[in-house]
Amino acid sequence: MIDLKDYGIQMWDKTKIADFRRTLLSWYDQEKRDLPWRRTKDPYKIWISEIMLQQTQVSTVIPYYNRFLEWFPSIWDLAQAPEEKLLKAWEGLGYYSRVRNMQAAAQQIIKDYNGSFPQTYAEIVQLKGIGPYTAGAIASIAFDLPEPAVDGNVMRVMARLFEVDYDIGNPKNRKIFQAITEQLIDPVRPGDFNQALMDLGTDIESAKNPRPEESPVRAFSAAYLHKTVDKYPIKLPKKKPRPIHLQAFIIRNDKGEFLLEKNIQGRLLGGFWSFPILETEPIAQQLNLFENKSDTILKNQPQKNLFRQIYQLKPQWSATVFKSVQHTFSHQKWQIELIEGFIADEVPLLKDKNLRWVAAKEFSAYPFAAPQKKMVDNYLAAKWP
Ligand code: ADE
Repeated sequence: MIDLKDYGIQMWDKTKIADFRRTLLSWYDQEKRDLPWRRTKDPYKIWISEIMLQQTQVSTVIPYYNRFLEWFPSIWDLAQAPEEKLLKAWEGLGYYSRVRNMQAAAQQIIKDYNGSFPQTYAEIVQLKGIGPYTAGAIASIAFDLPEPAVDGNVMRVMARLFEVDYDIGNPKNRKIFQAITEQLIDPVRPGDFNQALMDLGTDIESAKNPRPEESPVRAFSAAYLHKTVDKYPIKLPKKKPRPIHLQAFIIRNDKGEFLLEKNIQGRLLGGFWSFPILETEPIAQQLNLFENKSDTILKNQPQKNLFRQIYQLKPQWSATVFKSVQHTFSHQKWQIELIEGFIADEVPLLKDKNLRWVAAKEFSAYPFAAPQKKMVDNYLAAKWP
């Protein structure tokens, strides 16, 4: 373990630590939120809640959590779930690799532990998709083990308590916050202690509008006492997501069905269905059509040709102009231009691609990721304003 003094942090003495635990836990006992996953000690349920809570806020998670447990009440149900139902359960939450990892972990638990959730931190953290935060949360909440669960909220709380001068956005610095929380955690009620920090971090000690004067532990907070709450946590700016220009082809046949393609597994949004999409910019460069790459000079003609080649289809292009779609992932910012086309004759679809003609009323049976949903919305808005 690291020595906090090396990072300019002076840990409190035993009495102050005991005082802090008591103060935080008695506040939690009075103020804690009544949440569905706080009414159980079942590690499976706690695991689901923790993974979902990494993606979005509590109020959004609750209905997803309840439905997930209805669809997959046990580790066995999750392990055996068909892919489409699994993705459907996650639709709207994003980061679908998380739910795929959960299924892999469920299968691992069945294989290695006969289906009963492992009960030590070391075993839990080995499971697919479970990192130190989630392992700490499950170990402490379900099994009363004194393991910290350090996420961005907890780092912010600790940064203010101790005026930590290290960037919370740099993964290398996580160990500092982990070491602080390890020393503070209540050995008798570790799960409540961790959840009290989470509650504190998401509300009173929030990132945007903190109310430090309302904090139950303000008397312990160096930043509060020194009026430096605005300075902490230290968070240096991150790289911007890379812009990517794409074209989506909304192709209909004479029955009014749409051409959908299932994305290749292992890539971004693998397993989801979408209108065929091609990237614009690299092709423009490849064909050496444009000297510089400014957005305004992108032309869609080469992509239409490429679409014909790749899909072996010859649509009649429509002149309708659609509102383009933007979607930002953590590392990429997609700008998608929509292009409409019609195919009158019955032509076979290429076998080596996962293509299918689908009527709009069947869309709900296909897992759609956020960009596809936005494309459908913009398409419908233009066709039926
Ligand atoms: N955020 C992450 N885990 C949480 C939990 N168990 N309760 C409330 N908010 C959380």
